[in-house]
Amino acid sequence: MWRLKAVVISFTVLWTTCVGLDMKFPPGFKFGAATSAYQIEGAWNVSDKGINIWDTMLHKNPSLVSDGTIGDVACNSYHLWREDIHIAHELGLHFYRFSISWTRILPTGFPNKVSKDGINYYNKLVNGLISKGIEPIVTLQHFDLPQSIQNLGGWTNPLIADWFADYARVVFSNYADRVKSWITINEPLMVCDAGYNVGLLAPKVTEPWLGSFLCNKHVLMAHAKAWRIYDENYKGKYHGKVSIANNPIWLEAKSEEDEELAELARQFGVGRYSDPIYSKDGGWPPAIEKLMSDYSKKQGFPYSRLPTFTEEEKKIIQGTYDYYSLNHYTSRVVRPAREGEEPGPWYVSGSKELNAILEAHPRWRVSDFKYIVIYPEGIRRQINWITKRYNNVSILITENGLGTKSSDMHDTARINYIHDYLEQTLLAIKEDGANVIGYTVWSLMDNFEWMFGHTMKFGLYNVDFTDPLRKRTPRASAHFFKNIIKHHSLDVPRPSHDTREIKYNNANSISSLYILIGLFSLGNLVSYCF
Ligand code: BGC
Repeated sequence: MWRLKAVVISFTVLWTTCVGLDMKFPPGFKFGAATSAYQIEGAWNVSDKGINIWDTMLHKNPSLVSDGTIGDVACNSYHLWREDIHIAHELGLHFYRFSISWTRILPTGFPNKVSKDGINYYNKLVNGLISKGIEPIVTLQHFDLPQSIQNLGGWTNPLIADWFADYARVVFSNYADRVKSWITINEPLMVCDAGYNVGLLAPKVTEPWLGSFLCNKHVLMAHAKAWRIYDENYKGKYHGKVSIANNPIWLEAKSEEDEELAELARQFGVGRYSDPIYSKDGGWPPAIEKLMSDYSKKQGFPYSRLPTFTEEEKKIIQGTYDYYSLNHYTSRVVRPAREGEEPGPWYVSGSKELNAILEAHPRWRVSDFKYIVIYPEGIRRQINWITKRYNNVSILITENGLGTKSSDMHDTARINYIHDYLEQTLLAIKEDGANVIGYTVWSLMDNFEWMFGHTMKFGLYNVDFTDPLRKRTPRASAHFFKNIIKHHSLDVPRPSHDTREIKYNNANSISSLYILIGLFSLGNLVSYCF
């Protein structure tokens, strides 16, 4: 009897071996790469383009950026857009995610004047991509807010929801016939919590009380209004999809007792920007609403620092999604702050309000830039968290990638990062049943990396910033990614000198385990037969 059992087990395991070796992505799974307007376009004052908050901030004070550079020329994509299409095509991308500069389209920030040159520029880009079979995925607002709107309070002014809707209307009316995938706002968590609280990014408002929470509400309203404009006027005709890009840092409990705290931190970071849109009841995550109301009272406020939604506002926001746009880079572990310990340092996840410490796990690798701690399992957990909380929503990974100090063409660290995060994504799809529909590398090419300028490289393509032609050259990671796309599989060789290649090259970490089990099973079969 035990022999029969062994045979059955052996067959099962052998079958799993074959299935396990299959690192294929599901049919229809799409691959792309991303950039954003301020980071690549340059041409900051060409034609009638208006000024945005990054132009203003960095013209006044370029020393805010690590290497004193600014985005005035960047990759010069305003003039070299053909090059961008060329490299996207060379990679075999299914889609290219780029953003539109609000003030290139509406120089005053408002719809009193639409720039013909601005409209033409994106027409050329969109048409050029489509002619090469690359789908354009367009972000309406990627950090570069019109200065005119910032002068009126920017994202802390509730009227911004209508100003954003006016801008969205102009953009949709020009491109909705060809652009079928849209992202309204990139990373509201960074916009609000880094831009209107700690003053890390433009407009660098440092206001620890209300700024980020007002912004939080207004980005949601702005997104919802834009989504509804598309839904009412274009969805029926063009069948496109609209989402907002959130960027959760995966937060893991340090120990089992910290699970409740970690869950609150997740809801504080990502739930505040997602629940009002994706949850079935709408509105803020209830636990965060309560936390903020209690905490605000303790601070002497007669009201919650987290603004309320009217029932009507809740309804406007709720359900305004066609997929979940996920930008993911890194993870932290969460534990309560000890007596006398300052909570933090990740302002974005309510460390103060939760009296929590968010830190790197000692076993996780820290990249060249300590804010990116590498924990590939984090993406799988984050995907599962979103899947569970938001009713199995389909997820498009709209950013993932590694920043390095070196501009080495043999970018082994980036290759390993992309490999390992994709492997965990595959596990989320195959083992956990998550509905992930595509993956985007940040970034197509090196570009202006905000406060790090050109000191931080994210590109599959190296860009020579000393060359007036900004020559784009593929790194090893570009060849690797191209191969993944070509074979629709992660089971492709890694072009690297890294010792880990030996482990990964022919069999990745999942498959090597299966091979061992398979060999063991084969042994069983052989001993049964003879
Ligand atoms: C942003 C990009 C940025 C990237 C790397 C994302 O948060 O959307 O603009 O370049 O991270 O830091």
